[in-house]
Amino acid sequence: MSTSIKNICCIGAGYVGGPSMAVIAAHCPNLQINVVDRNKDRIDAWNSISLDDLPVYEPGLKTIISRFRGINLHFSIDIEKHISEADMVFISVNTPTKVKGIGAGQASDLKWIESCARQIGTYAKGSTIIVEKSTLPVKTASTIKTILESYVLGNNTDESKNKTFSILSNPEFLAEGTAVEDLENPDRVLIGGEDKNSILVLKDIYLKWVDEEKILTTDLWSSELSKLISNAFLAQRISSINSISALCEVTEANINNVSKAVGMDKRIGKYFLNSGPGFGGSCFKKDISNLIYICNHYGLSEVAAYWEQVILINKWQQKRITRIIVDKLFGTISEKKITVLGFAFKPNTNDTRDSPAIHICNDLLEEGCFLSIYDPKVNENQIKKELSQSENSNSLDISTSLYEAAKGSDAIIILTDWEEFFNIDFKKLSTIMRAPSWIFDSRDVVDQEIAKNFGFKVWKLGNG
Ligand code: UDX
Ligand code: ADP
Repeated sequence: MSTSIKNICCIGAGYVGGPSMAVIAAHCPNLQINVVDRNKDRIDAWNSISLDDLPVYEPGLKTIISRFRGINLHFSIDIEKHISEADMVFISVNTPTKVKGIGAGQASDLKWIESCARQIGTYAKGSTIIVEKSTLPVKTASTIKTILESYVLGNNTDESKNKTFSILSNPEFLAEGTAVEDLENPDRVLIGGEDKNSILVLKDIYLKWVDEEKILTTDLWSSELSKLISNAFLAQRISSINSISALCEVTEANINNVSKAVGMDKRIGKYFLNSGPGFGGSCFKKDISNLIYICNHYGLSEVAAYWEQVILINKWQQKRITRIIVDKLFGTISEKKITVLGFAFKPNTNDTRDSPAIHICNDLLEEGCFLSIYDPKVNENQIKKELSQSENSNSLDISTSLYEAAKGSDAIIILTDWEEFFNIDFKKLSTIMRAPSWIFDSRDVVDQEIAKNFGFKVWKLGNG
């Protein structure tokens, strides 16, 4: 028999914590949910009166926030209070790749997880279920457990003696841009853990809107590993198709035809076979790097090398695109104006973490061009922040409209498949760009026959 709970605290009000708690709040009116974060600006943004100022842009999110915020969904910086009142604490904090020290470039930096465990150890009261939501290296639960035990064992106050913790792994599989839809209709919900009662408590929450057969319960380690492997498999498909896009270009085949034909085999499936400028986002590279690190740690160097290739092809694809652009523009883009359309790592999100656009823009700036960038949802500060490492970041202009960005430029490069870019007015564009005007389409959004009729030279990725 599961024990029902009344109060949830989620540590981390980011791309995962915010939307996932909003959807739980929408389905569980009897639960009070407090999303806490130590970043006050972020919490203020979640509490902002104008729903256009929420820190995360996701279709459908505004509506949920407007209905449940202040009712059973709250955003706060009072971490201590909300952990101490919670029956269940979700950990949804960032776990980026370590940038220095042992495992730099591959291992996850768990300092935020560790600080969460210490906060929970200090403030939690009575029995608390801890739920890992962030993607974590396998066996992180045992790190959390060891830290939490230190707050109970050897601590003789009555309050400490009454503290008990149970740890569950419940990885989030949502993709950005479709977060609300993915949370509402998940392919599966995975719950890993040792304590059967805690598993049932969490399962009861999901049963409010998810069919029982979609809720999979496993041991802790399988659950943690499954999340990492799901992301690795998805990224592997993208690198596979991107490697073939180059082959299509030199053999006069068409990558879309190949993708379609291959994907119609139901053993392969049609999803995630779109070639493009490589995968970005906060998860794929980080998770594969982590997988490589774990494999090497356990002496599985061949397995590590296999997955390493997925990342190498991704980098190669981005470098390859820049080389083609320079080559087509007579071998130099120095002092030419290049317009980049799309900076987010995919459409329908304002997230730019590890976006292919960052790497491609840096390489283009390195070649000495003047870059003009337009993205419908990513603001100027964010783009400038991402490109601030470039020595040439002063050769940069951020526009608020596609046509303003394109004015006087020699080439347009499409890096994100925003809806707006499917409806470009080529007639208008042809009058404002410098001829010969090029369109480099890495996301298959342009109808090249129409563009060519207006005098454009067109390069499409994977199109021989
Ligand atoms: C991913 C996983 O899909 C999700 O399950 C997990 O929880 C988090 O990581 P996300 O990073 O939000 O989600 O986006 P996703 O839709 O997977 O796209 C990742 C990258 O791959 C994007 O840059 C996208 O443009 C690229 N991509 C995706 C392709 O290039 N081709 C495709 O066919 C699909
Ligand atoms: P994700 O995409 O995984 O949601 P984000 O970076 O968008 O990652 O969000 C993670 C959030 O977690 C950030 O807003 C960060 O301030 C917050 N955070 C990290 N560590 C802690 C902590 N120990 N206590 C409270 N908030 C934290």
